Amino acid sequence: MYLGIDLGTSSLKILLADENGKPVDGARAEYPVSCPRAGWSEQSPDDWYDALLAAVKELGARRDLQAVRAVGFCGQMHGLVALDKGGKAIRPAILWNDGRAAEECEYLNETVGKDKLLKWTGNIAYPGFTAPKILWLKKHEPERFKRISKIMLPKDYLVWKMSGVFAGDASDNSGTLYFDVKNKKWSAEMLDIMGVESGQLPKIFESYEAVGKIAPAFARETRLNPNALVAAGGGDQAVGAVGTGTVGEGALSVSLGTSGVVFAGLDAFKAADGGLHSFCHADGKYHLMGCMLSCAASVDFWLKNILRTKDFAADVAAIGGAKADGLYFLPYLAGERSPINDPGAKGAFYGLTLSHTRADMTRAVVEGVCLGLKDCYEAMKKSGVRAKFAGVIGGGAKSPEWLQILAGCLGLEIRTVGAGEGGGLGAAILAMVADGAYENVEKACGALIAYDKSYFPTRSETDCYDRKYAAYKTLGGVKTG
Ligand code: XUL
Repeated sequence: MYLGIDLGTSSLKILLADENGKPVDGARAEYPVSCPRAGWSEQSPDDWYDALLAAVKELGARRDLQAVRAVGFCGQMHGLVALDKGGKAIRPAILWNDGRAAEECEYLNETVGKDKLLKWTGNIAYPGFTAPKILWLKKHEPERFKRISKIMLPKDYLVWKMSGVFAGDASDNSGTLYFDVKNKKWSAEMLDIMGVESGQLPKIFESYEAVGKIAPAFARETRLNPNALVAAGGGDQAVGAVGTGTVGEGALSVSLGTSGVVFAGLDAFKAADGGLHSFCHADGKYHLMGCMLSCAASVDFWLKNILRTKDFAADVAAIGGAKADGLYFLPYLAGERSPINDPGAKGAFYGLTLSHTRADMTRAVVEGVCLGLKDCYEAMKKSGVRAKFAGVIGGGAKSPEWLQILAGCLGLEIRTVGAGEGGGLGAAILAMVADGAYENVEKACGALIAYDKSYFPTRSETDCYDRKYAAYKTLGGVKTG
């Protein structure tokens, strides 16, 4: 058996899978996000650890965890976890969707310069990335900054607590902006700018490599086998892509989660362009990715906060019969990352008339999200990405209506993945490879991932969304400062 541990933004999920990648059981524990000020987003690393213990123990009450040979991780990316000498968090973790470091980003992009950042790290600065947050901490909380002994990413905190090894992986650390993605090592220039020493940073592994074994104390407390291997794991997008078989050149996937991502596998490093990210993949190679900040988050906001619907599924299903003629929604509820990189961007409806209905407005929200994903995909096509189809994961993948709109917007066949587990399955696959059950990630995906349903765009749909996209760009692609 293998465990895939998915450290998300709202909950930690564990998937117990057999050696054929078949989900056998699972457990989940939730934790809050705190927003002490507008645009801030924080979480307590202790909450993650408590959730891990609770979920493993819940699973252990039903299953013999001695049968687990290895565990793998899938983690929310970019979060700043800073520990003192005693291993205690010196402040709550600053998460991927926290926008406080806008000034630090401007300094990095404009004063240090995008050219230098691209040369040193392969990417430009976004407020969500880790380096700008470190600069923010240094300026606004200097006493805390001085006490930092270890800096790590969210899932690496759990790897450390579980194995006792201070480890990180190349895919997740690609999103720090102090990692030289092409050469898979720390950027000396960026460490210098931040005033951080390499000794404060973890040892880097590939996602499918074992960093060690379950620490004896953790094994005693959870009844996991102390000989079980702990694989380094990876950032949630790379690991989710493994869970959809998106590995190697030409493979494309879309994630319809809180954030929305278009992800393209690459055999060799390509510098990011047009607001995309250029990161290491969890298969040992590279990938390009566009990340929009409010994907399912926009749909949730509309259905929960505004419509206060009692029946999510019925409201989403109703968009199948709606038209949203001339109606647009800009999904920039938390600013936007790819491709416009504008933390100040705002959400909006545009084009409302007396003839529009509740279902039209819901459809416009889903279309707006899909046009945001198209914006990322168009930037990828400009960077040379070519794909035959896209595998899809995330909460939105449950809605056939949403998937048909996505197919029309991207002009691509969209395939759902059989197991539908995405990140958890990807993490379990990394554990299998670490354990030697498969020679590499690509072979494991070839053997384990099966696609389920396909959604094909019609000509009239692609024409319609090409037109809507041109209009959407005039509304949303403008820097608001
Ligand atoms: C990726 C990103 C999000 C977070 C949270 O760049 O910011 O996917 O990892 O899911």
